[in-house]
Amino acid sequence: MSVTHEKPGRAALHLARAGCLAPSAHNTQPWFFAEEGHDHGFEVHLDGGRRMLLTDPLGREAVIACGAALFNVRIAVRHLGFRPVVDLLPQPGDSAHLARVGFTTHSPCTPEETLLAGAMIHRHTHRGRFGAEPVAQPLLDELHEQARVEGATLQVIDDPEQLELLADLVRTAEDTHRADFGHTVELARRVGPYGVPVEGCRQHPDATRLAGRDYLGLARRYLVPSRGQGGGTGTVAVLSTPYDRRPDWLRAGQALQRMLLYAAAHDVMAAFHTQPLELPELRARLRTGLTAGRHPQVVLRLGHVPQPQTWYTPRRPATQVLVHDDVPVRW
Ligand SMILES: Cc1cc2nc3c(=O)[nH]c(=O)nc-3n(C[C@H](O)[C@H](O)[C@H](O)COP(=O)(O)O)c2cc1C
Repeated sequence: MSVTHEKPGRAALHLARAGCLAPSAHNTQPWFFAEEGHDHGFEVHLDGGRRMLLTDPLGREAVIACGAALFNVRIAVRHLGFRPVVDLLPQPGDSAHLARVGFTTHSPCTPEETLLAGAMIHRHTHRGRFGAEPVAQPLLDELHEQARVEGATLQVIDDPEQLELLADLVRTAEDTHRADFGHTVELARRVGPYGVPVEGCRQHPDATRLAGRDYLGLARRYLVPSRGQGGGTGTVAVLSTPYDRRPDWLRAGQALQRMLLYAAAHDVMAAFHTQPLELPELRARLRTGLTAGRHPQVVLRLGHVPQPQTWYTPRRPATQVLVHDDVPVRW
């Protein structure tokens, strides 16, 4: 890349803002974006230094988050009226350069793409109980299709035995994390104005069938009487891929974001329970017992949020995540 000091193109800023709205484990935002020339192309890079070192040593969750950011970029390109052309891992010697997005022919956004673009801003992660209204089966079928189009499988876990197995694996992983001082500190450091806001952690982590992250150490101080009973759990699902290499993690991230946006557009939000996927032995048990050999990438609950969220999880501004030919953008 040549080094210039031009201002960023307006399209690049638009795309960077869209990328930033993606979910990432504990709001780590492990990405940066680069504009090639002046609105000629747009790159998605992994910022490996921002991943959770203990929880995500291989960077799998960080790459999934970048895949979600890439999907937002693709939708934002469509919203501008162009077709994106995506090269995954375009530079064989640079595994942190995750994707290059070029812009080709003009073609208006479809109604579905407009729906997904509109959901970007209000999609958010839920924690704690969902409302009583179940997620409708036709919507679940559509979410399955949204994930499939991106090369992943969204599997609803409704069989009681399978649900019990998954709940046990999540509980074992969460108990292991809670007992590990290093993990506890790593997680606690993510709470606050640059990570997950305190408002987002106030729900008791043991309120639903799947144990949640104990960001504030609430489980050490208070027990919930209905621990793990299942009220308000919503629909439990696992997203998986046929293989488990970096391109598969990127595909999983794009599939995740596509189905999250589609769900949000239909007033359904997701809660994440990825703890067992961070411990190789538990992830292997989940793979054998639940996903028929496909590699589990994300564990979710889906449901209707009982009350509208009155706060939001902040993001780094586009100025911090967009570089113009290797140089941070100047305004
Ligand atoms: C791969 C991945 C794993 C995640 N795991 C968890 C989790 O185990 N517990 C949790 O509460 N949130 C989890 N999240 C959600 C993030 O905390 C959330 O996306 C981030 O705080 C930004 O908030 P937002 O999604 O509301 O924009 C995960 C997100 C991703 C992409």
